[in-house]
Amino acid sequence: MSTPNESSDGNLYTEANIPVNVGGKLSVFTVTIGATVPTGFEHTAAEEVGEKIEADARISKDRGRIYFQISTDKLHLVHHLKSVDNLFVIVKEFDNYQFKDSKEEAMSDLQQLASQLPWANALEVWRMNNSLKKRRGRRRGGNATKPKPAKGEDAPVPAMGEGDAVVTTTEKVQQDPDAPQGEEGEGVRGSSQEEEELEDEASKPLKFRVTCNRAGDKHSFTSNDAARDFGGAVQEFFQWKADMTKFDVEVLLNIHNSEVVIGIALTEESLHRRNITHFGPTTLRSTLAYGMLRLCKPQVSDVIIDPMCGTGAIPVEGSIEWQHSFFIAGDNNDMAVSRTVNNINHIQKKKQDGGSAPGLPVDTVQWDLCHLPMRTNSVDIIVTDMPFGKRMGSRKKNWDLYPSCLREMARVCRPGTGKAVLLTQDKKCFSKALSRMGGLWRKVHTVWVNVGGLHAGVFVLKRTASDYGTTPEDVRPPREAPEAPNNNKEEQ
Ligand SMILES: C[S@@+](CC[C@H](N)C(=O)[O-])C[C@H]1O[C@@H](n2cnc3c(N)ncnc32)[C@H](O)[C@@H]1O
Repeated sequence: MSTPNESSDGNLYTEANIPVNVGGKLSVFTVTIGATVPTGFEHTAAEEVGEKIEADARISKDRGRIYFQISTDKLHLVHHLKSVDNLFVIVKEFDNYQFKDSKEEAMSDLQQLASQLPWANALEVWRMNNSLKKRRGRRRGGNATKPKPAKGEDAPVPAMGEGDAVVTTTEKVQQDPDAPQGEEGEGVRGSSQEEEELEDEASKPLKFRVTCNRAGDKHSFTSNDAARDFGGAVQEFFQWKADMTKFDVEVLLNIHNSEVVIGIALTEESLHRRNITHFGPTTLRSTLAYGMLRLCKPQVSDVIIDPMCGTGAIPVEGSIEWQHSFFIAGDNNDMAVSRTVNNINHIQKKKQDGGSAPGLPVDTVQWDLCHLPMRTNSVDIIVTDMPFGKRMGSRKKNWDLYPSCLREMARVCRPGTGKAVLLTQDKKCFSKALSRMGGLWRKVHTVWVNVGGLHAGVFVLKRTASDYGTTPEDVRPPREAPEAPNNNKEEQ
């Protein structure tokens, strides 16, 4: 056990320089939490924060980030957010930090800054959060282990567009993401065993790294320079050990022109991978899937389909979050269908192991979207991620596929109330196909997103009250016979 030392700021610190929770009492104070979200979905994430945490989120100039204040006794609620990729607690924010022109002077200022920052509250939140994560891990039966692929199954592979850089990106985070239910009212005060474990850990020297994320063309230094020099000063100040891969604390240095935010990560692995264990070539981020679903406001008893489900990111996310709707996941590719089934089974097993009822309101089926085995006017909501024609399908094929899809989706979707939220990067082809739908769909709005570096659109459509099959456009057959199921080529 470590002996607390009183410091000049009046706080007690362990030998490893972590603020001490005196007498096991929970200190309640307000902190600012930052979250990275899929770009374009900042407003959706802010809305979720308002709903689940009752806090007003501020959207940063730096696209893809939101900030909100929370009292530390409500800290557990941040892990209920589904639209955030990474979470961090703010140490200090500067709206208009004046970087000196020369690299030497700018770096010297950053080094000095490290010892002047108000670290104590942020480190206390980091400590509370570790305790929370341990409890969540225990409740689910120990460390969440990644499933080994069964014979004949694909090994899980990382989702598209993920980076794993050591000092220049913030794409790092969270350990135990998927927490479907039962955590309301969860506090951060732990058991005595937990406290002992934390104290034991507190006596070991902490390992840390600094991750710098920089944007702006007026800086005389790179993100590597800033991470290295600021990191050196942090090391000196706290006497922590630098470790780029096995770190306890990740200090974040976000520089966006003259806006500087220093934070401490609260998640180790991005939450966007929370529910998927069997990845495919174009697996969608769970956070983006959640944002798309939120755009159509699912209601109790809604029938929601993802007719091109791939690995099932959208229906998996939806059936966990909106348990009173019913989801159908379909794809014409047998490998995609079996990945979806595996992903659903994995979540159900985890729920069962955690003591909850295993069922999710979702079914999986192999089908061709251009000929859905469903009744006309039977679906409330369609949410899907269409082949962009880059990694999946081809641009040429999209000219036939998109009009057929839109027409068949209009047939099954309820006139007057039905909605569709469709993601594609092939905007030209999509707009053309939509304009030829004979007024069956009305575009409500478009959210522009970044998907693995590609500029894509999420198109929110409303099914008009027009009857299907009454205008020349909707009865016109596709230009070519539709492709048979199973004919997709998957690129790895
Ligand atoms: C961009 S991927 C969807 C990725 C998915 N959101 C995920 O998270 O894995 C598009 C999917 O459309 C499927 N697809 C293409 N043409 C189809 C058709 N005519 N009917 C059904 N699915 C089709 C492909 O097999 C592919 O899995």
